[in-house]
Order: sequence, then structure tokens, then C-alpha cells
Amino acid sequence: MTFQEVNLKRRSIRDFLKKSVPKNIIDEILQEALEAPSSSNTQPFKIVVATGDVLEKIGKELTTKYKASLTLRNKNIIGKILTARKYQLQPNKVYQTIQGKYPGVYQERRIKTAVGLYKVLGIKREDKKRRDEEMAKNFSFFGAPVAIWIFANPKMKYTALVDTGIFMQNIMLSATSKGLGTCPQGALNLWRSPVDKYFNIPKGYELVCGLSLGYPSKADVNSYRPEKLSLEDLLVTKK
Ligand SMILES: Cc1cc2nc3c(=O)[nH]c(=O)nc-3n(C[C@H](O)[C@H](O)[C@H](O)COP(=O)(O)O)c2cc1C
Repeated sequence: MTFQEVNLKRRSIRDFLKKSVPKNIIDEILQEALEAPSSSNTQPFKIVVATGDVLEKIGKELTTKYKASLTLRNKNIIGKILTARKYQLQPNKVYQTIQGKYPGVYQERRIKTAVGLYKVLGIKREDKKRRDEEMAKNFSFFGAPVAIWIFANPKMKYTALVDTGIFMQNIMLSATSKGLGTCPQGALNLWRSPVDKYFNIPKGYELVCGLSLGYPSKADVNSYRPEKLSLEDLLVTKK
């Protein structure tokens, strides 16, 4: 595939085949991702690759947390505190995702993208139950046989996040070029304790993002192509 083909083919995949990904293919993708630029070549990241039984266990633990978090809506403050303690629902602190509304135009774009996605999925906006079910699929990796968690060292400040983002994009483009699909998932950054339970994450590394990897199914959801900015919206005008 040419770069243009790979670039256009890469979309967030939210339904994967059960088919496993051979280890040599995963290694090849990671080797290619390592060609990414990083600030002074510091490469301030570490990754966890989970497959098989361990992935299933992590998925179950994350799903339990997610389901417990949904029950918080109907609880009073004491109930919220007790449930949050019992299921360790305190979100990951260092590289946080926004809880709730996004600021300004970003919330509008977020809603537009979500509305388009729900339309493809046949979910009505007011159907909270189905939306919750769809959200829950994040925590079982949309059925993917591989999940990757990317950690970075916050001592490298903003370059840690820039470098990690570029590295992740290399993973996604490399995977796409081999007929695989990916979904970067901020949702997998909410709780890291199930990942810590099975992997020795070096001290000082903080979770930035998760990513599901596998062979895309032919489900409609994978055909969704959310609108991108026009060049006009992207470019800053001259004074
Ligand atoms: C940092 C980051 C976090 C994301 N988190 C999620 C997520 O938790 N769940 C999900 O389904 N998609 C997630 N996405 C995918 C975006 O929704 C998707 O990239 C966006 O809608 C554009 O669609 P495209 O990737 O198909 O071009 C995330 C993407 C990025 C870059």
C-alpha cells in the first residue's frame, strides 16, 4: 500500500475478529513504530502488550470497574464513596482524560462524532442503556485479541506526550499496512491497577493511552469515517 492508501484506510476499529495476531507480526509492528522521531531521541515510553488469558483477565477487571462506575449515578454521596473505594474507581491521575464536558468547540465536535457513530450503530441518542453497552465494549477491547498500554515518563513533561502520540500513530499505521486494525482508547487510561497486577511497569512511568489491535470485522461500525477539519478551519489566517 502507498502511504496515502494506509493513511486513508486507518480508522478507529470498534469490532474485531477473534483471529489471533501472530507474535512475529506484533513484533514487526513495534519494531516499525520504534522508527518514530522523539525529542532528542529520548523515547520516553514503555509499553505493555497483553494477549490471551492475561488480556481476558484485565478485560474482566476493567469491565467490573466500568459497571460499578455506572452505578454511581444513582447513589448518594456515601454510596458513591463506598462504591468508589470497593472497586478502586479513582481515575488515573497523571495523564488524565477529561471527565464530563469538553471545553467549547471540542464538545461540539465530540458530539457530532458520537452522533455519527451511534447512527451507524443504530443507537438513538436518548438510549442511554445501549450507549453504556457500547462504551463498555472499550473494556473488552472491542473483541480484539491484543491490547497495548503505552506509558511515558512525566519527567519529560510535554515531550513525553508528543513523543508517545507519534509512536502510537506509527503503531497504528504499521498495523494498518499489514491488514490489521487499531483503536486508540483514552478509556483504557482510566484505571491502570488491572494492568499493574499482571505487568512490572517500571517506577516513574505513567499510563498515557491504551490501544486495541487485531483484524477488523466487517461490522458496520468499522465503516464509520468521521468528518475531519477542512483546510480552511485548520489554517490560521494571515494578519
Ligand atoms: C487519544 C485518543 C483517545 C481515544 N479514546 C477513544 C476511546 O476511549 N474509545 C473509542 O472508541 N475511541 C477512542 N478514540 C478514537 C477517536 O474517537 C477517533 O480517533 C476519532 O473519532 C476519529 O476517528 P478515526 O480514528 O476513525 O479517524 C480515541 C482517539 C485518540 C487519539
